[in-house]
Amino acid sequence: MSILVTGGAGFIGSNFVLDWLGQSDETVINLDKLTYAGNLENLASLQGDARHVFVQGDIGDFALVARLLAEHQPRAVVNFAAESHVDRSIHGPGEFIDTNIVGTFQLLEVLRAYWGGLADESKAAFRLLHVSTDEVYGSLAKGDPAFTETHRYEPNSPYSASKAASDHLVRAYHHTYGMPVLTTNCSNNYGPYHFPEKLIPLMIVNALAGKPLPVYGDGQQIRDWLYVKDHCSAIRRVLADGRLGETYHVGGWNEKPNLEIVHTVCALLDELRPRADGQPYREQITYVTDRPGHDRRYAIDARKLEQELGWKPAETFETGIRKTVAWYLENQPWVANVLSGGYRDWVAKQYGA
Ligand code: NAD
Ligand code: TYD
Repeated sequence: MSILVTGGAGFIGSNFVLDWLGQSDETVINLDKLTYAGNLENLASLQGDARHVFVQGDIGDFALVARLLAEHQPRAVVNFAAESHVDRSIHGPGEFIDTNIVGTFQLLEVLRAYWGGLADESKAAFRLLHVSTDEVYGSLAKGDPAFTETHRYEPNSPYSASKAASDHLVRAYHHTYGMPVLTTNCSNNYGPYHFPEKLIPLMIVNALAGKPLPVYGDGQQIRDWLYVKDHCSAIRRVLADGRLGETYHVGGWNEKPNLEIVHTVCALLDELRPRADGQPYREQITYVTDRPGHDRRYAIDARKLEQELGWKPAETFETGIRKTVAWYLENQPWVANVLSGGYRDWVAKQYGA
């Protein structure tokens, strides 16, 4: 038996592949385009492991995906592949449309053909799990209840709009063709192998390099944070027992304003790797121009997943963020390799001089 994972060299995908093979001998076919966000170093510990088959390629490449499906006959597909960074989607939405919308559509088409041709038993057992985000719902005001699975879609960035479109396509393939799909919408993840363009790893990396810690606007925007390995365990749970055609929210009830996140990261670094001059890292905080259309608050109501499938996160924010900061301190060679020329070009574009 095998499963096909797309985007398995990215942040969450690589954590998922490592987590999966840590608990199962079922082969993972890992299809990843290796964009700037894909990094095979995340999977270095699987070198020589026959249970991991890596294929570089695009989810939108119908012929390639058809060949992989025919060859490996996976019983499930978990779709992580996406362009995922809101700020990049503001500078250039094109790739978000190509991968998140057209790529997902092509993947659905090739899966429809594969699934349609399966024998009855395999057909009934097959699953497509589509990994999505809470950002499709748009922004909450202070005091609004957290997003439930029936909340109206109101995406505000090219990223979230493209993810919303992909969710709608997945839903339509279930309702129209009966495809056995599951969708998860998760809140902000953090943890090992997180590319340092996103808030938490960017703050750790910049702090250690003595660079400014750029907080957008007033830093009071709220995100709901989940340790990445808890997201992985939720996906396993939904894949195993989720009801077909259903959406499940994944979150850890950890709403925090950005500034508090940055203060927490600084305090952990003060403790674990104090600055040579004895000054606190929070001195490096710099307020910069806000993100255009910046969503004020996200919050996930994960009760359906908890009550129906008995899932619970293993980490609190306090334990998860401590592990994360420690991981970055212990994995400085990984960080150094990621901070390549391409990364520097992005930082110059986004944060200027
Ligand atoms: P990421 O940007 O770190 O990784 C994306 C991966 O997809 C990369 O390895 C990249 O090479 C690959 N990829 C991109 N385009 C591809 C294509 N056309 N074909 C094949 N591979 C392609 O993203 P992530 O943070 O790991 O997010 C994974 C998924 O989870 C995304 O769908 C994202 O929308 C969703 N999600 C992320 C978060 C979060 O906080 N990071 C929260 C909720 C949901
Ligand atoms: P990010 O990690 O990009 O995730 P998302 O936009 O998908 O929620 O950003 C998290 C929050 O941190 C978001 O409110 C924007 C803010 N932020 C900063 O204040 N400064 C930064 O340099 C970055 C990258 C993000």
